[in-house]
Amino acid sequence: MIIPEEIQELRTMVRQFVDKEIIPYAGEYDRTGEMPTPLYDKCIEMGLNAAYMPEAFGGPELSKLAFAVLQEELARGDIGISTTMGATCLASLPVMLGGTKEQQALWWNIVAEKHYAAFCLTEPNAGSDAAAMRTTAHRDGDDYILNGTKCFISNGGLAGVYSVLATVDRSLGHKGLTAFIVERDRPGISIGKEEDKMGMRLSNTTEVLFDNVRIPASNRIGPEGGGFKVIMQTLDYSRPGVGAQGVGIAQRALEEAVKYAKQRVQFGKPIASFQGLQFMLADMAIEVETARQMAYHAADLIDHGATDFTYEACIAKTRGGDAAVKVALDAVQILGGYGYMREYPVEKLMRDAKIIQIYEGTNQIQRSVIAGKLLK
Ligand code: CAA
Repeated sequence: MIIPEEIQELRTMVRQFVDKEIIPYAGEYDRTGEMPTPLYDKCIEMGLNAAYMPEAFGGPELSKLAFAVLQEELARGDIGISTTMGATCLASLPVMLGGTKEQQALWWNIVAEKHYAAFCLTEPNAGSDAAAMRTTAHRDGDDYILNGTKCFISNGGLAGVYSVLATVDRSLGHKGLTAFIVERDRPGISIGKEEDKMGMRLSNTTEVLFDNVRIPASNRIGPEGGGFKVIMQTLDYSRPGVGAQGVGIAQRALEEAVKYAKQRVQFGKPIASFQGLQFMLADMAIEVETARQMAYHAADLIDHGATDFTYEACIAKTRGGDAAVKVALDAVQILGGYGYMREYPVEKLMRDAKIIQIYEGTNQIQRSVIAGKLLK
C-alpha cells in the first residue's frame, strides 16, 4: 500500500522521537518496573496520547491508517509506551461509536485535562467470554449504581475516565450488557492490584473496582442491552492497530538481527554471509512486510467507510501477533548467547511480543471469528 505523504511525515517524526527519547531509556524501566512517567510526559507533549481526539477538542483526529502507523512506530520503541498511548483511543471508541454529542464532549474534555482513559471490559471470570461478566449496573431513579471488579485494565491507574461494560440483568446474557462513561473521581472507585508482567512492563495494568458507584443515566452509552454490540464494534476498530503494534516489535527485532549479523564474525567472516542465516533474515522480513500490509489494509478499509471489516481486523491482529513472536524469537536465535542476555534488546522484544497474541482477544478467538465468517 502506498502511504500518503502526511502519514509518512508522521512516521518520520515519531521514529526520530522514539530513537531519541524512548529506546535509550526503555530497557532500564523494563528492568526496574518503575513507572516511566517522564517518557509518558514526552509523548503527551507530542500529542501522541489521544490520537483520535477531534480537532475541536485540541486533538490530532488521526485516521485509522495514521493511527496504525503511529502505533507501529511507538511499539518499535517500546510496546508499553504504545499501549499506554493506544489504550486511551481504545477506551474512546465506544463513546465515538455509540455516544451522543454531549457524551463525546464530556469524554474529550476529561481526556484533554487528564490525558488518559481506560477500557474496562475484562473481569476475572470473563476474558475470552466477554459476555459472562458479573459487573452490575442497577437503575436507581435517574442514576445507575455500578458494582464489580475489572482486571488487566491498561491505564487502570492512570485514567481520568473509563468506558465500562456492565450488565443490567445477568439472566439476559449479552443482551443485558450496557456501556457507560464513568469518571475516575466518582466515590466508590478504587484501583486494585497492579500487575507485575512478563513483558510490556512500561504500561500500567491494574484492577479497577466499583463499589456502589453512582453515575447519572445520562452517562449510559446507547440503550440498555446495546453494550455488547458497541464493544464488539470497538474491538473491530481497534484490532488493526494492535496488529500494527506487532509489526513495530517485529520490525525492531529484524533491525537488531540484521545489525548483529553484519557485525558478528565467526569462522572468519560475518555470520550474515552464511546462506542459512540469510534465509532466516529473509523469512523474518516476509513476516514483517505481510503483517504490515494486512494491518494497513484493515485500517484503510475503515477509513474508506467499509461497514463490515471484522474479518480483516481479526486477520490483521492475528498476523501482527504471530509475526511479532516469530521474528522476536528468531532475533534471539541469531544473537545466540548474547540474545539470551538482558544486556541486548532482543530478549525484551521476545517477552514484549507475546502480549500481542493475547490481548484484545486471543489469537485463538480471532481465528474462531475468522472461521465463523468463512463458514457462515
Ligand atoms: N460487530 C457487531 N456485532 C457483533 C460482532 C461485531 N464484530 N460480533 C458479534 N456481534 C453480535 C452478534 O451479531 C450477536 O448479536 P445478536 O444477539 O443480535 O444476534 C451478539 O453480538 C453475540 O454474538 P456472539 O454470539 O458471536 O457472541 P459470543 O458471546 O459468542 O462472543 C466473541 C463472541 C467474539 C468470542 C467475543 O466475546 C470476543 O470478542 N471475545 C474476546 C474479548 C476480548 O477481545 N477482550 C479483550 C479485552 S480488551 C484488551 O485486551 C485491551 C487492552 O488491554 C489494551
